Amino acid sequence: MNLKEEILKLKQELDVTIVAHFYQRDEVFELADVTGDSLELAKKAMNTQSKYILFCGVGFMGESVKVLSPQKRVLMPKIACCAMARMIDVDYFDESLKKLNDMGIRNEDLLPITYINSSAAVKARVGEMGGMVCTSSNAYKIIQKGLESGKKIFFVPDRCLGQNFAKSLKLKSSVIGDGSNINEADIICYNGFCSVHQLFSVEDIEFYRNKYPDILIAVHPECDVSVCDAADFVGSTSQLIQYIKNLPLEQKVAVGTEYNMVNRLREKNTYILSSTKPECPTMNETTLQDVYNTLKQIQNGQEAPYENEILVDETVVKWAKIALQRMFEI
Ligand code: 13P
Ligand code: SF4
Repeated sequence: MNLKEEILKLKQELDVTIVAHFYQRDEVFELADVTGDSLELAKKAMNTQSKYILFCGVGFMGESVKVLSPQKRVLMPKIACCAMARMIDVDYFDESLKKLNDMGIRNEDLLPITYINSSAAVKARVGEMGGMVCTSSNAYKIIQKGLESGKKIFFVPDRCLGQNFAKSLKLKSSVIGDGSNINEADIICYNGFCSVHQLFSVEDIEFYRNKYPDILIAVHPECDVSVCDAADFVGSTSQLIQYIKNLPLEQKVAVGTEYNMVNRLREKNTYILSSTKPECPTMNETTLQDVYNTLKQIQNGQEAPYENEILVDETVVKWAKIALQRMFEI
């Protein structure tokens, strides 16, 4: 039996659901029971009956499942970290608040919203302050709702998502440390970003439009504001997939998001919006061998935590869950 057959056999035997994000390598993605964008994965994993969730993605995604379903055992074949999520921790969060306080903006004047690409501890801090989580598929709605509080939004960690949605809501945004007037901003953004999505540029868009004048450009909101402004469509991974699937096959489209997902989209007339191969290095860390090894661990059975099991402190679970639930309610 080859590795793939071994995995399929183990999967049938064990009380396990394999969950994979769209950015996973093809061989891992194909074996998953559940696939989706970050929001869908959190919801679907929470609703499965299995005792074990084998999560193929990055750390914050596995943590979100554990926060929403603490009774499940969540194992990640590779505990890979999203580079953007690592740009902020609770200390950096508090330091940013302090900077804002020094500029005369009090904590009571702020409603924090964290992109789901953040640690459970940051989500908990946001939850404790009355804030909530958003994802790239619901950020517009969540920010809109947040503004009903009459407060400024403190958006972490992705400056691009914050700036892009501020623009679509016709609001003023400012990034901490970029020299702009923070006091005038409706949305104050932490200065985090995704290094993969920074690879897409307006020059790439111009290149494709010069080459194929009728081509459409579809990008993820983690791309720079200049890129999102110039694009025909901006959406989360699931929204991009839906948009592209609804296009006639002869319609050319260049897509600005992670390579594995774009490569899988359509056989014809789909291009990656870059001269490079923009793979997310950490999403790519999980291999078939890792999936197999983790299933074997489950088969061997263990009461104490596994080496690659996701564990989250109880207080963090409590507040992070509140921040996630506020999002679900909206
Ligand atoms: P989605 O929520 O659109 O799946 O995005 C997650 C992500 O990390 C994109 O880089
Ligand atoms: Fe994080 Fe960027 Fe990778 Fe998405 S593509 S998981 S934001 S590093």
